[in-house]
Amino acid sequence: MKRVTVVGTGYVGLVSGAGISDFGNRVICADIDEDKIDRLLQGEIPIYEPGLKEIVKRNVEAGRLVFTSDVAEAISLSDIIFIAVGTPQGDNGDADLSAIFAVAKTIGENLNTPKTICTKSTVPIGTGKKICDLIQQTKNNGHSFHYVSNPEFLREGSAVKDFMHPDRVVIGTNYPEAFQVMREVYRPLYINETPLIETNVETAETIKYASNAFLALKISYMNEIANLCETVGADVHVVAKTMGSDGRISPKFLHPGPGFGGSCFPKDTRALLSIARERGLKFRTIQAAVEANEAQKDRMVEKLKKLIAAPLDSTTVAVLGLSFKPQTDDVRESASIPMIQSLLNDGARVRAYDPIANSTMAEIFPDIDYCERWESAVQDADLAVIMTDWNEFRGMDLNKLKVLMKNPRVLDTRNILSISELTRLGFDFDNVGRSTQ
Ligand code: UDX
Repeated sequence: MKRVTVVGTGYVGLVSGAGISDFGNRVICADIDEDKIDRLLQGEIPIYEPGLKEIVKRNVEAGRLVFTSDVAEAISLSDIIFIAVGTPQGDNGDADLSAIFAVAKTIGENLNTPKTICTKSTVPIGTGKKICDLIQQTKNNGHSFHYVSNPEFLREGSAVKDFMHPDRVVIGTNYPEAFQVMREVYRPLYINETPLIETNVETAETIKYASNAFLALKISYMNEIANLCETVGADVHVVAKTMGSDGRISPKFLHPGPGFGGSCFPKDTRALLSIARERGLKFRTIQAAVEANEAQKDRMVEKLKKLIAAPLDSTTVAVLGLSFKPQTDDVRESASIPMIQSLLNDGARVRAYDPIANSTMAEIFPDIDYCERWESAVQDADLAVIMTDWNEFRGMDLNKLKVLMKNPRVLDTRNILSISELTRLGFDFDNVGRSTQ
C-alpha cells in the first residue's frame, strides 16, 4: 500500500484520488478550497460524474481515502504526490500555470522525505522541467525527489470508467525507480496487462497534447465533411460509418455536431498552437481545426436563422441541452453558449432545458427561462434546437413535441432525431450533414 497525496479535487484530481485509493493505496485528496473540502467531508460530490459518489464513499468507508485543506501537511505525510490542479486558459491562449507552480513551491517547502512527484494536469511541454527547478529552488534540505509526468485521458461523463479501465497508462520519467513506484500505484492495471508506456517526461507531455488535438482535428474534419454532404446530397452518417469500418481510421470521434466544447479540446488545441508558435513552428492542421470549430458554431446559428425565417425578436426558441456533452453538468465552451448569446442579441425569447446543467448555465445566462422538463421548454415555441445528445432527447415523443410547439420546427445539431418521423409529422427541420427530405 503506497501513501499518496493528490493535490487538486477537480475532475482529474478527485477521480484520480478515488481511483488510486480503489487500487488499494492510502490517498489524501488535498485542496486549498476549504468549502470544497468541507462538502467532500460531508459526503457531497462537487461535480456531477456517474459512479464517482459510489467510489468515493466506498474508499472513505474503507479508510483509504481522506480529504483535507491542509495541503502542506498532506504533502509531508505521503511518499507520492500527484499534482492535479487546474490549468485554465490564460489571456493569450497559453495554459495558466500559476496553480501548478504554487503546488510545486509547497512541495519544495514540505519535502520532508524522498518523494515521487507526479503531474497529472495537462501542462505545456517543458513544464516538468520548470516544476523540478522550482522544487529544487524551494527545498531547504538534502531530500531527493523523482519527477514523473503521468497525463490523464479521462472523459467527463465516463471519467471513473476511463480511469479504472484505461487504454494505456503513460509514465514519463528519467528515473527507473520512479517507474517502479508508479507500477506499484497502478498495480491492478499492471496485473491486468494494461499497457504501461515508459518514456521520458517531454514525450509523455507531448502524447497528451498530440492525442487531444488529434481527436479535435478528427471532429472538425467530420464537421466539414458534414457541411460538404449537405451541399451534395450525401448522408454524413453513412459516410462516417463506412470510413470508420476502415481499421486505420476507427469509428470513434467521427460524429458531426455543433462544434466541440469542454474543458480540454478548445484549451489544448489553443495551447498547442501557442507551444508551436513559441518554437517558431506553424501548426497548420490544428489552426484549421480551431477555425473550423468556431465556424461550425456560427454555422449552427445561421441554420437556426434560416429555419425560423422571421425576425428573431418576435420568436421563442427552446434550447434543449446546455452541457458540452451528455452525462455532465459542465458547460465550459459548450456550443450552446454562442447559440444562446446570438439568440439574445437578436431579441429572441430563450427557454432552456438541460437534465442537469440548468444551474451551471444560469451562472453565465442568469436571465433566460430555465425549465424543469423539455415539455415546458418547447411549449408554444417557434423552434426547438437540440444542442446536446442526451438520451432523453433521443427518446423524445415527436408527436407530443409537435402538439406542444407553436410551430413544428426543429434544428437537430446532434443528428439524434429520426428524419423519417420528422418528415412524416410535417416538421420543418434541419440537422448536420444529413438529408432533410
Ligand atoms: C476529452 C478527451 O476525450 C479526453 O481523453 C481528455 O482527457 C479530455 O478531453 P472530454 O472533454 O470529457 O474528453 O469529452 P469528449 O467526449 O472527448 O468530447 C469533447 C467534445 O467533442 C464534446 O463537445 C463532444 O460533443 C464533441 N464530440 C465528440 C463530437 O462533436 N463528435 C464526436 O464524435 C466526439
